[in-house]
Amino acid sequence: MNLDKENLLYRGKAKDVYQTNHPQQVMVKFRDDITAGDGAKKEVMGMKGYYNSLISAKLFMLLEDAGIKTQYIDLPEPGFMLSHKLDMIPLEVITRNIAAGSLLRRFPFQEGQTFNPPIIQMDFKNDEYHDPMLNDDIIHALGIASNQDLEIIRKITMKINQVIKDFLESRGLLFPDFKIEFGRDYMGNIVLGDEISPDTCRFWDQKTRDIMDKDLFRKGESGVIEAYQKVTNIILDEKDKKRWNLDF
Ligand SMILES: Nc1ncnc2c1ncn2[C@@H]1O[C@H](COP(=O)(O)OP(=O)(O)OP(=O)(O)O)[C@@H](O)[C@H]1O
Ligand SMILES: [Mg+2]
Repeated sequence: MNLDKENLLYRGKAKDVYQTNHPQQVMVKFRDDITAGDGAKKEVMGMKGYYNSLISAKLFMLLEDAGIKTQYIDLPEPGFMLSHKLDMIPLEVITRNIAAGSLLRRFPFQEGQTFNPPIIQMDFKNDEYHDPMLNDDIIHALGIASNQDLEIIRKITMKINQVIKDFLESRGLLFPDFKIEFGRDYMGNIVLGDEISPDTCRFWDQKTRDIMDKDLFRKGESGVIEAYQKVTNIILDEKDKKRWNLDF
């Protein structure tokens, strides 16, 4: 897809956001750049954007079917997601079903311990301040979201977790944790934006507990893109593969 540089609204670490002719719609380009540790570790990994866009599109569609509002409009070709333009809320909303990652470095949880109910954690999406963990009072004082907004965000997040977790488990995957971002559409509705991909989630094989997400890259292991392809293959149905002309 040929996108005009003049229409580039925002270039993040892994995606570009372009204004389209429609004022309330953007085209999100999923790039192949992969970063970890606040951007300290950086690489380009061919096909990553392609797989991430397909996984995100499939999961957004699944959520839409469950009645959850997402940015997703269409994936005209892998790598490019036509999306509702959102005024992003600077929160990283993290949900944890199984203890892993930074949680274990910060708190005395047991590796692999399950959380029921799941833990919802909110971090400040701000590279300059290194995404510190927030509490409700700090969120209010920063003017990020009201009590009512937070209630809505938590409710939607719990539902997103349930829908995706059930789906993944039916396909042999565990869903230890994930990070999502919300924004407001032109009507002021709180809508799920950004992406849901192996860059922003943990996916483990249910039987072997093999890692199939960006943790492979963080740990400097091989087979990163192969894992992303495997997740795509597991998540997409035959009809999805036909629709996007995939040959794997
Ligand atoms: N539907 C949307 N409308 C507008 N902006 C969006 C939408 N979905 C995501 N974004 C924003 O676009 C950017 C996506 O790019 P990317 O994920 O590469 O950025 P990032 O490196 O995580 O974040 P940043 O550079 O903002 O710290 C993020 O800032 C994200 O909040
Ligand atoms: Mg991002």
